[in-house]
Amino acid sequence: MFPGHSFAPLQIRGRQLLPVVQGGMGVGISAHRLAGSVAREGALGTIASIDLRHHHSDLMDMCRADPRHETLARANLVALGREIAAARKLAGGNGMIAVNVMKAVNAHADYVRAACEHGADAIVMGAGLPLDLPDLTAGVDIALVPILSDARGVALVLKKWMKKGRLPDAIVIEHPAYAGGHLGVTDIADMGNERFAFTKIFEELEGVYATLGISRRDVPLVVAGGVNSHEAVRKWLEAGANGVQVGTPFAVTEEGDAHPDFKRVLAEAKPEDIVEFVSVTGLPARAVKTPWLERYLRNESRIRAKIGSLKLACPTGLECLSACGLRDGIEKFGHFCIDTRLAAALRGDVANGLFFRGREALPFGNAIRSVRDLLELLLTGAARPAVARRAAFALA
Ligand SMILES: Cc1cc2nc3c(=O)[nH]c(=O)nc-3n(C[C@H](O)[C@H](O)[C@H](O)COP(=O)(O)O)c2cc1C
Repeated sequence: MFPGHSFAPLQIRGRQLLPVVQGGMGVGISAHRLAGSVAREGALGTIASIDLRHHHSDLMDMCRADPRHETLARANLVALGREIAAARKLAGGNGMIAVNVMKAVNAHADYVRAACEHGADAIVMGAGLPLDLPDLTAGVDIALVPILSDARGVALVLKKWMKKGRLPDAIVIEHPAYAGGHLGVTDIADMGNERFAFTKIFEELEGVYATLGISRRDVPLVVAGGVNSHEAVRKWLEAGANGVQVGTPFAVTEEGDAHPDFKRVLAEAKPEDIVEFVSVTGLPARAVKTPWLERYLRNESRIRAKIGSLKLACPTGLECLSACGLRDGIEKFGHFCIDTRLAAALRGDVANGLFFRGREALPFGNAIRSVRDLLELLLTGAARPAVARRAAFALA
């Protein structure tokens, strides 16, 4: 477990955790090794549920032999179960293991049910309003954590959930101007809007809580996006957050589940390499301008004019999204296969992959360090010297 630091613990459903949360990162970027290593230190580690079969060669063989949708969907549920079990083993009863589920994903209800069945401690849901989450988990003792971006979204979820007799066990507030991956804003131009500022949201929530008759202490708030130093952790915890969620800095740790070249692309990206664009989900997203993305963005208007409104067959057969710009011919959305691109990034295919990344510089620059070193730096400000050729972690 992680040694002393001066911050109050983050309390989620009766558990005392380090106030640094590891955000879920798909496809496969945060699987059992990262989530389990984070939990082992006493924090909340998150497995991203989407398309985890890519970490299991037997399941990939099964999908190649029988590429029907049902087989792919089943393989992913088996993979999720295996990843939760392996993360729990690695955590050794410390911290918490959460499963991140995106509402925009077709199989979101199946992923939630599988997470409950396989003993996850929490479900963290974003990329859409998680209004059905209390119903999907009824009768299960599991923490529920929505990801939202402004006070209006928080108010809406609280009102709907309170009618069902449930409060979130924590809420992640993710800032679209800084976070990696899909961003909680409809228009890229709107992402700097003042309503996303954490301090503004804290202020506005005072009024929301008073109207709903609950107290600020009832729902811990965790801020996410661009938290990359001990000073930033201190600033937000002192400003009223109960925890911070960190994504990109965990993706590039030694224990991160992606290929070393994935980590290299993220760690070596310069500010001018990091771009926002419209994803196939219709949401803006932030990523590194690697060769494929550079080419896609150069040709985006031509692609949109040519195939933007054509309905196409799903190239992988996974049908991962409920609404997909490419499959459903939604002109104003993006037009590429996100699953194929994210899976290429996971295996370190720099030419063809889509490499999601947050906007800020990384705590250790371009160095790849351990989860323990990252937590120590964020929580205490102390940077241990890098250990050359550190012994490999024992994996489950
Ligand atoms: C590679 C990558 C993949 C991500 N995938 C997901 C995801 O599947 N679901 C989700 O809710 N958030 C996802 N995120 C967002 C992170 O969980 C986190 O909230 C965000 O990146 C925080 O900002 P930071 O990267 O500046 O720390 C992703 C971020 C990155 C960098």
